[in-house]
Amino acid sequence: MTDITIKTGCRYSEMLVNLHALTEGPNTDLGILANTASLLYWSMENVNWAGFYLRYGDVLQLGPFHGKPACSQIEMGKGVCGTAARDRSTVVVDDVRGFPGHIACDPDSRSEIVVPLIIKGDLFGVLDVDSPLEGRFGKDERLFLESVARVMSQVLLRCTKLIRPESAAESA
Ligand code: SME
Repeated sequence: MTDITIKTGCRYSEMLVNLHALTEGPNTDLGILANTASLLYWSMENVNWAGFYLRYGDVLQLGPFHGKPACSQIEMGKGVCGTAARDRSTVVVDDVRGFPGHIACDPDSRSEIVVPLIIKGDLFGVLDVDSPLEGRFGKDERLFLESVARVMSQVLLRCTKLIRPESAAESA
């Protein structure tokens, strides 16, 4: 495997290089999602949860993540994840206490960003990152995590499939 040093406080450009290295070569969707969650959790400062919810029909199911145990299922349109999934657009919440319907998995979370993962026009799932700080996710974080989602959409297309959300099954 490519030698990758994962350290806290990496620049986002450096993290994107690491992401490319982590996802090149033979890989599975499960491995790509797990390594990406690890990279984000261990490299981004002031992050207490990073991971994925994957779409099965109208429901999001918990996927690979780093952080405290989380709710295993979220309905489309519910919470921050379900809202981003339903609208197929990034949602940034500066203070989750002010977001109606926010689903609190880790009581320490104060701000959150959720980015949809679209593969060939279909919603595959969402990338969710939480922080214990209010207003942690600004323009730079949004651009970075949307770049991460774009890279993943490409690599998930050409990897071996172990998990089968509906859109993955269709594109396999
Ligand atoms: N807060 C999310 C639920 C998932 S956890 O944050 C890991 C939401 O409202 O959808």
